[in-house]
Amino acid sequence: MKNSDQIEYWNGQAGSKWVQHAERLDELLEPFADDVLGRADLKQGDSILDVGCGAGALTLKAGFQVGDDTQSLGIDVSAPLLELAKKRARERGAPVRFERGDASIFQSGHKFDALISRFGVMFFDEPVSAFANLNGLMQQNGRLTFACWQALSLNDWARAPLEAAMPLLPSSPASPPPDAPGPFAFADKDRVFRILDDAGWNDIEIKSQLGLVRLPGETVSEAARFMMELGPVGRLLSAAGIDLAKVEAPLTETLSNHVLTDGRVYMPAATWIVSARSAGA
Ligand SMILES: C[S@@+](CC[C@H](N)C(=O)[O-])C[C@H]1O[C@@H](n2cnc3c(N)ncnc32)[C@H](O)[C@@H]1O
Repeated sequence: MKNSDQIEYWNGQAGSKWVQHAERLDELLEPFADDVLGRADLKQGDSILDVGCGAGALTLKAGFQVGDDTQSLGIDVSAPLLELAKKRARERGAPVRFERGDASIFQSGHKFDALISRFGVMFFDEPVSAFANLNGLMQQNGRLTFACWQALSLNDWARAPLEAAMPLLPSSPASPPPDAPGPFAFADKDRVFRILDDAGWNDIEIKSQLGLVRLPGETVSEAARFMMELGPVGRLLSAAGIDLAKVEAPLTETLSNHVLTDGRVYMPAATWIVSARSAGA
């Protein structure tokens, strides 16, 4: 089955951890929802498709912008994340629906005006065919806007926990191929352009967005524990039989160099904000 590794991953421990830490993850990722919506230029009445919507933070925000009378939808492969998204939509009375589906083959009788995504489109085994499928779900000239990460080397918030763990590991973990599905699969701007171009999208623009992200946690230790829990570090250390607690001291030391006057940790982050127009039906 296509995308089976990612589907398994997001329905397993990764999905449950995201649900468990959803509020804090949304706090971390909130500025990127604003980056996507700032560029998406949504209008009242637009129907939106949020791809890889997870627990629905972006879908809900966008849904309130476009209003009640649309067929706005969030899709995702992760059952635990969608359950939380649906609960949030019910509680907030949001005018959006959520469906489980693999975006690379998802079909809908409705054509959408705007496709949006916050870090939900880098996980396809075959990105050209996935983006061609998404293109076919849009009205003619429908707008695509998504955020994806630039290289790990520019994203200190993600790099710091790995660097703190490295000296503890018996050997350096093998790096995945740069275009393997995963959070940094779209780090190469030219590759992203080629994927969208080959998938038939028009007017492709890719803008660099550099800034700082505020890590969750009132103290440096809380921020360090959060980063250890959520990232790949836990998996790497447990595979090597090493206690995760050993990373806390070096990571806390690194993060303490990034505390600003409000006492919170702010780390460099780099994303691409990508936009394009669909060829349409
Ligand atoms: C990094 S999370 C981002 C979640 C959400 N967009 C947010 O910003 O909170 C990536 C999401 O993409 C979803 N995903 C991965 N592959 C997918 C696919 N083929 N189709 C739909 N969703 C997918 C995952 O289940 C996960 O919820």
